[in-house]
Amino acid sequence: MIKGKNILLGISGSIASYKITILVRLLKKAGANVKIVMTPAAKEFVTPLTLATLSENPVFSEFSNKTSGEWNSHVELGLWADVFLIAPATANTLAKMANGICDNLLLATYLSAKCPIFIAPAMDLDMYKHPTTKRNIETLKTFGYQIIDATEGELASGLVGKGRMEEPDAMFQQIVEFFNADKPLANKKVLITAGPTYEQIDPVRFIGNNSSGKMGLELAKQAFKLGAEVTLIIGPNHLQIEDKISVIKVKSAEDMYLAVHKNVKKSDVVIMSAAVADFKPKKVSNQKIKKNNSDLMVELEPTKDILKSVGEIKSKKQLLVGFALESINELENAKAKLKSKNLDLIVLNSLNDKGAGFEFDTNQITLIDKRNKVEKFELKSKAAVAIDIFNKIVSLLK
Ligand code: CTP
Repeated sequence: MIKGKNILLGISGSIASYKITILVRLLKKAGANVKIVMTPAAKEFVTPLTLATLSENPVFSEFSNKTSGEWNSHVELGLWADVFLIAPATANTLAKMANGICDNLLLATYLSAKCPIFIAPAMDLDMYKHPTTKRNIETLKTFGYQIIDATEGELASGLVGKGRMEEPDAMFQQIVEFFNADKPLANKKVLITAGPTYEQIDPVRFIGNNSSGKMGLELAKQAFKLGAEVTLIIGPNHLQIEDKISVIKVKSAEDMYLAVHKNVKKSDVVIMSAAVADFKPKKVSNQKIKKNNSDLMVELEPTKDILKSVGEIKSKKQLLVGFALESINELENAKAKLKSKNLDLIVLNSLNDKGAGFEFDTNQITLIDKRNKVEKFELKSKAAVAIDIFNKIVSLLK
């Protein structure tokens, strides 16, 4: 989740600065972009060259570049950052931050930043205990900043107590958790089937259906928003699908069956919203079938029930969601499908609901879970329906 995020690090003059080199490595390895602003005093402890090399970005500490005469824009730095972590934050820097003093580039950037700010204090134990430091930390908390509390241990002075800056890996973890907070599906793999399947009769004709694949695509987009790694297996369609979703295009029910089984084992959540053809021609003609002015009989045989086949092999940890399109005895039929296909959740669409179905951008669903809990929803856009379905999935995963 941290990949591609802009992390701004603010370093003030403490011996703990050397640990920031490790944090920079961890952030870079995870794919984050890192920029660094440091106080002049911090340069006594760790060189800008080391930090610039590790972060692959120039390091800023003065208001202007003395040789080029260019301005180092604290405003731009503040706007660039998705998160600003000030670590180590010395007693001096904390005091200035709490009081709006702005006598270096780090502090000017801090005052300009609009992003969430994390502060990791570091100092000797008596400085940390001092009432002014305590007051300044409390003041900074009231501004809504996140304080990464100092830890206990051996200090550079040789004394033992509270004041050590939190370790780089723990700070890294806090930043990761911050980005994952609204991503309940972070680290989860979601597999979705969507669209129709086409069952070939001859080289130019097929049996298909009107499914647009829109519901499946909205599900894929919502899964991605919630932090999941998404694979969408989709039958023939005209949809624009964004790059962040990994797409496997298929044509027939058999293709979809094979693609699903190639990917199902590694998936945490499997949602089958595809309108798979239930029957396919027993024989596919190699030549275009001629009219011959007589009736044509095409013998059909059932396709494989993909959903059922996944229900038969799914592990206890995997969550399997099916769809049911019904026109009579909707609830009973959906409940029967939930059981016979070993599902955790079924999404019922009724052909009797106006504005719901293949050709619409809206849908009306009823969710039925394994415990037979039934929730009926209003007619909504397919994007809003995807949110309802994932709210339920996230609650079932807990
Ligand atoms: N499905 C599937 N493979 C098939 C047919 C259906 O995976 N060959 C899945 C669909 O993706 C959907 C669910 O099964 O999630 C239910 O599809 P539906 O057509 O409503 O039901 P069927 O099981 O085909 O039963 P029936 O058509 O008799 O109602």
